[in-house]
Amino acid sequence: MAGIRADVEASPGTVFKDVINAPVLSVKDMSVSIKTDNGIVRAVRGVSFSLSQGKTLAIVGESGSGKTMTCKGIIGLLPPGGVIDNGTVTLCGLDVTRAHEKTMRQVRGFNVSMIFQDPLTSLNPTTPIGRQIEEMMVLHRPDMNESARKARVFEMLDLVGISNPAERIRQYPHQFSGGMRQRVMIAIALTLSPKLLIADEPTTALDVTIQAQILELMNDIQRKTNTAIVIITHNLGVVASVADHVAVMYGGRIIEEGGVENIFYSRKHPYTQGLLDSVPKINRAKERLFSIPGSPPDLVNPPEGCPFAARCGSRMRVCGSYVPPIMEFGGGHSAACWLYDKRATAPPSAVSATPMLS
Ligand SMILES: Nc1ncnc2c1ncn2[C@@H]1O[C@H](COP(=O)(O)OP(=O)(O)OP(=O)(O)O)[C@@H](O)[C@H]1O
Ligand code: SF4
Ligand SMILES: [Mg+2]
Repeated sequence: MAGIRADVEASPGTVFKDVINAPVLSVKDMSVSIKTDNGIVRAVRGVSFSLSQGKTLAIVGESGSGKTMTCKGIIGLLPPGGVIDNGTVTLCGLDVTRAHEKTMRQVRGFNVSMIFQDPLTSLNPTTPIGRQIEEMMVLHRPDMNESARKARVFEMLDLVGISNPAERIRQYPHQFSGGMRQRVMIAIALTLSPKLLIADEPTTALDVTIQAQILELMNDIQRKTNTAIVIITHNLGVVASVADHVAVMYGGRIIEEGGVENIFYSRKHPYTQGLLDSVPKINRAKERLFSIPGSPPDLVNPPEGCPFAARCGSRMRVCGSYVPPIMEFGGGHSAACWLYDKRATAPPSAVSATPMLS
């Protein structure tokens, strides 16, 4: 991975500290930038969150808000030119921003596994499905002999609900439907029983019925294995059916986070409000669909203050100049918005007497 690496190495499956009660994943103030021909993209800007075993965090937000780069930073697979330039990411007790690449190869698989945004093209078209599942074990589990690996392939196909495994393992990806291929991707990701599964838009390419099946499968697997899951999605319906906690991203930042109930029934941030207003309502089918006017910020030159200021109907003077503070509403619900800070709505004389946060 790009970024700072100290010489931290480990053997397969190590849980790096006493993490029995600690979160599986803890991200603190992480920033990611990507050097491109057009300048440095500030893809992730000071993101913090944590996730415990058996829980699901949904990351939502418009295209380009930094969802994928947050997750690729966590697993150490940023694109060329990408670095974590600030913060820490602690995964099963290991600060992955300081880990050696050799250690990270072990971590990916044993501790964390990611299903990428384009899963249907992630399978190798020229290799039978069984072999593709087995490869994870060939690479990472030299202690397993061929029959143990084969048994695990059958077990995984059973876990993800693919019947007739003896025939299926010999087939190629084109002989599987989209939903079945997604099940295979989940099987591959879970073969080594990682503590954390990251799924980037796992259902976007699937039709609605199959989406529901895959989400139910993920819920079911979580009940059986207690895996922590980070799911990235554009779809707030997906959030409602799988998540415990939600992080809303905009312009490379988390602008609101909270439990599912907080986000759906007592959201605080105008952007979250806009996202929820954009969801089609079944009883208002004939109404014109709302969409948030304007477009997301350019992350090569991110705005100075609130990233949403250019599109926000509640914008105040302070919003364009100062990054909003994170306001806590209790029970893990918070939002980064000046609307909830008395200093922003106080008379100008009071504001100038109080130093603003940056
Ligand atoms: N390989 C790359 N090289 C340079 N910039 C990139 C690269 N991948 C993403 N970016 C930029 O990083 C920022 C965050 O992108 P990211 O892919 O994390 O967005 P996202 O929220 O996952 O969007 P989407 O919903 O479209 O997948 C964007 O400004 C994007 O243009
Ligand atoms: S900080 Fe200001 S611009 Fe940003 S969302 Fe809140 S009110 Fe709108
Ligand atoms: Mg993405």
